[in-house]
Amino acid sequence: MTQLADSVVLITGANGGLGTEFVRQALARGARRVYATARQPRAWDDGRVVPLALDVTDEASVAAAASAAPDTTIVVNNAGTSGGRSLLTMPLEAVRAVYETNVFGPIAVAQAFAPVLAKNGGGALIGIHSALSWLARPGAYPSTKAALWSVTNTLRLELAGQKTQVVGAHLAYADTLMTAHRTNVDKADPRDIVAAADLPSAYGRTHWAG
Ligand SMILES: NC(=O)c1ccc[n+]([C@@H]2O[C@H](COP(=O)([O-])OP(=O)(O)OC[C@H]3O[C@@H](n4cnc5c(N)ncnc54)[C@H](OP(=O)(O)O)[C@@H]3O)[C@@H](O)[C@H]2O)c1
Repeated sequence: MTQLADSVVLITGANGGLGTEFVRQALARGARRVYATARQPRAWDDGRVVPLALDVTDEASVAAAASAAPDTTIVVNNAGTSGGRSLLTMPLEAVRAVYETNVFGPIAVAQAFAPVLAKNGGGALIGIHSALSWLARPGAYPSTKAALWSVTNTLRLELAGQKTQVVGAHLAYADTLMTAHRTNVDKADPRDIVAAADLPSAYGRTHWAG
């Protein structure tokens, strides 16, 4: 099982609500270094955090991040976007954009970081799915998270040979920018969601639900 103690963790979408918690709790649980990647990296108040530019929809950006973070042992594919109220009325371009971020982005990150993880002993790759991977709702988001769930399952098979643990998180509403417009639903505190993920042991499972 991959351990967080002395690990080097790379998190996509690290400036977001859950991303920020993944950074903070990885540090609290003993990560040696955390690459906090974002489209627009920001400064952090801990010397173990290395801000890094990474747009998951830009292959050159993903490749550059993989080169800049060669000691990574754990990748958290956290970046994501919601979007659109109806698959029937959204412009196809807008549907594609949600897929680019939520499906092709994590695949691009997995492709770029698989050799890095292999070189560093296998490590772990974590996909951030959703309860909506399992439930139908209007718009593009649920089907992207269903696809990502399947992507994670395939990556688990494809990365088994290099001893990379591949897990996925299925979480319900957390109180972040992504859900700010949802005022009539119960939302969990991102701190509790990431804590419930119990990262070190989650890395030994195939998925967790929070
Ligand atoms: N909140 C929930 O209820 C919930 C439930 C289930 C699953 N999730 C999943 O949890 C993950 C984190 O979401 P969140 O709730 O923390 O939302 P959030 O606060 O909106 O954070 C999402 C982050 O993803 C980043 N991002 C978007 N497109 C990107 C791209 N092309 N390249 C790199 N980063 C990009 C955003 O960066 P910018 O700051 O540059 O926009 C933002 O920092 C997502 O995958 C989401 O689908 C959330």
